[in-house]
Amino acid sequence: MEAKKLETPQVDLTPYYSHERGFTLLQGDSLELLEAMEPEQFDMIFADPPYFLSNGGVTCKSGKMVSVNKGRWDRSKGVEGNHEFNMRWLAACQRLLKPNGTIWVSGTHHVIYSLGFAIQKLGYKILNDIAWFKVNPPPNLSCRYFTHGTETVIWAARDDDSKYTFNYKDMKEMNGGKQMKNLWNIMSPRKAEKKHGKHPTQKPLKLLNRIVLAASNEGDRILDPFCGSSTTGIAAVEVGRQYVGIDQSDEYLDLSINRFKDLL
Ligand SMILES: C[S@@+](CC[C@H](N)C(=O)[O-])C[C@H]1O[C@@H](n2cnc3c(N)ncnc32)[C@H](O)[C@@H]1O
Repeated sequence: MEAKKLETPQVDLTPYYSHERGFTLLQGDSLELLEAMEPEQFDMIFADPPYFLSNGGVTCKSGKMVSVNKGRWDRSKGVEGNHEFNMRWLAACQRLLKPNGTIWVSGTHHVIYSLGFAIQKLGYKILNDIAWFKVNPPPNLSCRYFTHGTETVIWAARDDDSKYTFNYKDMKEMNGGKQMKNLWNIMSPRKAEKKHGKHPTQKPLKLLNRIVLAASNEGDRILDPFCGSSTTGIAAVEVGRQYVGIDQSDEYLDLSINRFKDLL
């Protein structure tokens, strides 16, 4: 009997955009793309995954009550479904890290416990949990909770043996000569950072600049598997790192390109 040929899914890794300054964007489903990429090619990963909080609630923006919904990509798949998703992309990222590479993962209480558990289950080594304090967060309109003013960013090495990069002296200098703590006071992105258009969950450049400078060196390769408007890419290229960003949305990738072109 003739052996049946196995169908292997074809994943297109052709860049959506690529520039010689080391700014590359891929368009598609991260889960598929990450699993199709060559292993051990990145020194650092920053991931700002869906927080799965777009479930019909409200929040406050510029003093007005608005829907909290960010888009279909941010709808919860249920606790189990969200955790399965987190396990899968975090495993794929671990395969893509060089032995001494590190990953940074941001989240709020909606996902951070699943992310932390997945990171531990997969054998990463947690190095820090950064408490990012947004300094001037919007008020809580329901008055039934404390105002949400922080996000957590977990920093982890690929495994227990990783001889990871930590630019300790640079961080100390940045902190006026004192050891930097894991409490970071950084404002949400200002208007000037959104002049090319808005991403509903855009991270501040200052946050990404600190992360890139803390855990990578010039020429290093940095991946962002949920890149949105490519705050990671802008911070990376500004200080001479190579960047690969992935997003499924043309709109956000076009916004990324416009932000990048502003640097040229
Ligand atoms: C939290 S946002 C990232 C925002 C980004 N840090 C910034 O500063 O603009 C998450 C992004 O992941 C993208 N996304 C969600 N699920 C995805 C998937 N399975 N594959 C690719 N992109 C995905 C969304 O389109 C969204 O832009």
